[in-house]
Amino acid sequence: MELENVEKVATEEIEACEDLDQLNETRVKYLGKKGLIQGFMSKMRDLTNEERPKFGALVNKIKSAVEEKIRIAQEKLEEKKINKKLESEAIDVTLPGYKFNTGVIHPLMQTIEEIEDLFIGMGYEIAEGPEVEEDLYNFELLNLPKDHPARDMQDTFYINPNTLLRTHTSPVQARTMQAKKGEPIKVICPGKVYRRDDDDATHSHQFMQVEGLVLGKDISLADLKGTLHEVAKKIFGDERTIRLRPSFFPFTEPSVEVDVSCFKCNGKGCPICKNSGWIEVLGAGMVNNNVLKMNGYNPDEIQGFAFGIGVERFTMLKYGIEDIRNFYMNDTKFLNQFKGVK
Ligand code: DAH
Repeated sequence: MELENVEKVATEEIEACEDLDQLNETRVKYLGKKGLIQGFMSKMRDLTNEERPKFGALVNKIKSAVEEKIRIAQEKLEEKKINKKLESEAIDVTLPGYKFNTGVIHPLMQTIEEIEDLFIGMGYEIAEGPEVEEDLYNFELLNLPKDHPARDMQDTFYINPNTLLRTHTSPVQARTMQAKKGEPIKVICPGKVYRRDDDDATHSHQFMQVEGLVLGKDISLADLKGTLHEVAKKIFGDERTIRLRPSFFPFTEPSVEVDVSCFKCNGKGCPICKNSGWIEVLGAGMVNNNVLKMNGYNPDEIQGFAFGIGVERFTMLKYGIEDIRNFYMNDTKFLNQFKGVK
């Protein structure tokens, strides 16, 4: 090939290359150690001293021109390769994504959270106590000495004669009073409790309560009624009213049983309220003077009220759940009904 032709032919070949492999072959053909341009260099030996520099300069010029053409072609082919890759890897954003199953806040926890929100809004603190409890706090300091017949109301799991699984959240009352040493108190105490009951549709050996305790100057039964009316409205709806009936608990005097007006029939009478128009929802009362004294409070200066909410009972009434065991079986069909109900 004539030297003059080399640049033109190389350019055509370079531009015809369709991929980087072909371009590399072309590069080797022209610029490689045994390539065409190197071939012209070795011919310099046959030239005269005069011709040699001119010829050398020309070969170098052609070499640089071919190198530059190859560099440009290489850039183009690399870009082409990337574009092709991007095209083949394109993501179809209209495809449906992976489904992640989200959990549900357990309906009992939803009820507890609702109750907590309400009471925190009224300036209460949340107190907790141990589930493995001393007889002292579970019974004695709540005015239930060892031989008291009312102990039979709560069948107890004993661990040893002085240690038991708490049968209610009321021991947290005694613990809080001991900790506050005569100061005013406004607490609720949510938690698990245990009873030696046979499990059936309405009984469980383990369930949950929210205890409430308020101690201060001039706290009266009217304050208790007003507070529980707020609870009834929050959980069962704004139109609810409540009524108090006399009852007995060793830790309160007087003690009351609290009924809420039936949210199903609005008081007319239906199967849920057993035609009475009222549903019994919780126990409460004014803290017994003995309890105040035993826990370091002077009943002449400070008194107050207490109440015990059954979380399962509230939740069953609110959603019309008929079997308490639903709460403990982790059946997602049951639990998923409570997605986003709060
Ligand atoms: N501790 C009682 C129970 O589990 C419920 C209760 C009733 C709690 C009256 C109270 C109360 O604080 O004043 O059956």
